[in-house]
Amino acid sequence: MNEFKVKDTALASKGFLQIEWASKHMPVLNQIKERFAREKPLKGLTLGACLHVTKETAVLVETFLAGGAQVALCGSNPLSTQDDVAAALAEKGVHVFAWRGQTTEEYYWCVERVIDYAPTITLDDGADLVSTLHSKRTETLPSIKGGTEETTTGVMRLRAMEKSGTLKYAIIAVNDAYTKYLFDNRYGTGQSTIDGILRATNILLAGKNFVVCGYGWCGRGLAMRAQGMGANVIVTEVNPLRALEAAMNGYRVMPISQAAAVGDIFVTTTGDINVIRTEHMQKMKDGAILANSGHFNVEIDIKSLEKIAVSKRRMRQNLEEYTLEDERKIYLLAEGRLINLAAAEGHPSEVMDMSFANQALSVEYLTKKERLPPKVYSVPKEIDEMVARLKLNAMGIKIDELTEEQKRYLATWEMGTI
Ligand SMILES: NC(=O)c1ccc[n+]([C@@H]2O[C@H](COP(=O)([O-])OP(=O)(O)OC[C@H]3O[C@@H](n4cnc5c(N)ncnc54)[C@H](O)[C@@H]3O)[C@@H](O)[C@H]2O)c1
Repeated sequence: MNEFKVKDTALASKGFLQIEWASKHMPVLNQIKERFAREKPLKGLTLGACLHVTKETAVLVETFLAGGAQVALCGSNPLSTQDDVAAALAEKGVHVFAWRGQTTEEYYWCVERVIDYAPTITLDDGADLVSTLHSKRTETLPSIKGGTEETTTGVMRLRAMEKSGTLKYAIIAVNDAYTKYLFDNRYGTGQSTIDGILRATNILLAGKNFVVCGYGWCGRGLAMRAQGMGANVIVTEVNPLRALEAAMNGYRVMPISQAAAVGDIFVTTTGDINVIRTEHMQKMKDGAILANSGHFNVEIDIKSLEKIAVSKRRMRQNLEEYTLEDERKIYLLAEGRLINLAAAEGHPSEVMDMSFANQALSVEYLTKKERLPPKVYSVPKEIDEMVARLKLNAMGIKIDELTEEQKRYLATWEMGTI
């Protein structure tokens, strides 16, 4: 019998419809799935995955099943699991341990259940699976051939492990593929973060001061989409190049201490800790809304918000009201967890199509290789380019090819002005 733990198995039929809907918008992954079904490149392998359990992840899991693997899966955030999808995956024979609204203990309990299956390859989103393997479950490490990492924060943690000599197996940084971060982090996070804020609040963005903390790939996408909705975007940064880019893209740039007093909505997308702190909250306008779209719920100092608040109440789903001593209200969305996954459905399927195509092909790449030295690797360029070509093809877009003369010209130095 399949082992799993989900909220309610009766939700499976709803989950299957969601997965079918996502699948219709994931043509690249579907092509890979068809090939995997023919070639069975993952036959007999066990994959251990710690990914947001969404309808798009389910399409990735189906791709692995088609390739002959068995999959153990847990969520990569206590608040991001789509319970209907988890139920459908359980019915499909996936060892899924995930439900929405977990405590931290329950979350790590699920991570450890995945490790119990002694995976040959791991897939992570935020590096909680890898860090648990390297701290509490080291007995499993020798049999692991390699792994993949989905997000910026995870790659950052893995690079720190590599640097300190702690990392014990090779990991491919899927996040760093062009066909991942340029689209997923930028357009995916941009659109779905707005979606999450709107579902949680239903406020009008037009005319509001919308503060984006961190002008990285996620922040760029978010600023662009918020501006498109008519908001006045303010960017806060610590990196001078990114700050300059934001300024030249037409946004106001200022320190968070200054933005705190004028912002109506604040969204953190930094991957950093305590970006919005007590001293900033103390300056905020009555009714300020705080949300986070970075990986962990550490970007807004929620503990301090709890301390300075005299009372707290839930106004509606994913919206908590904190009343401060001077009666000002501050609203926190989705407990400071990734707003796009907690209050909406995460990235649209079309972008996850590319991110997960990179995941599927990177897993296949790792299985074909001898065990690589324990380092963080880039997605091979051939995979990245193949994903781009397949996506363009699926979108019906054709591009030019270099002529022989152009190839020669671009590879030589002799010719200058004529
Ligand atoms: N919500 C999602 O679905 C989703 C999707 C992809 C990535 N992420 C997460 O979002 C976060 C950002 O990812 P990214 O790809 O944009 O990273 P990035 O490295 O491209 O950008 C982060 C930016 O934040 C800036 N920053 C760091 N500390 C700051 C501070 N104290 N104040 C202001 N700016 C600061 C950095 O200088 C950098 O420009 C990560 O945690 C990543 O894992 C979330």
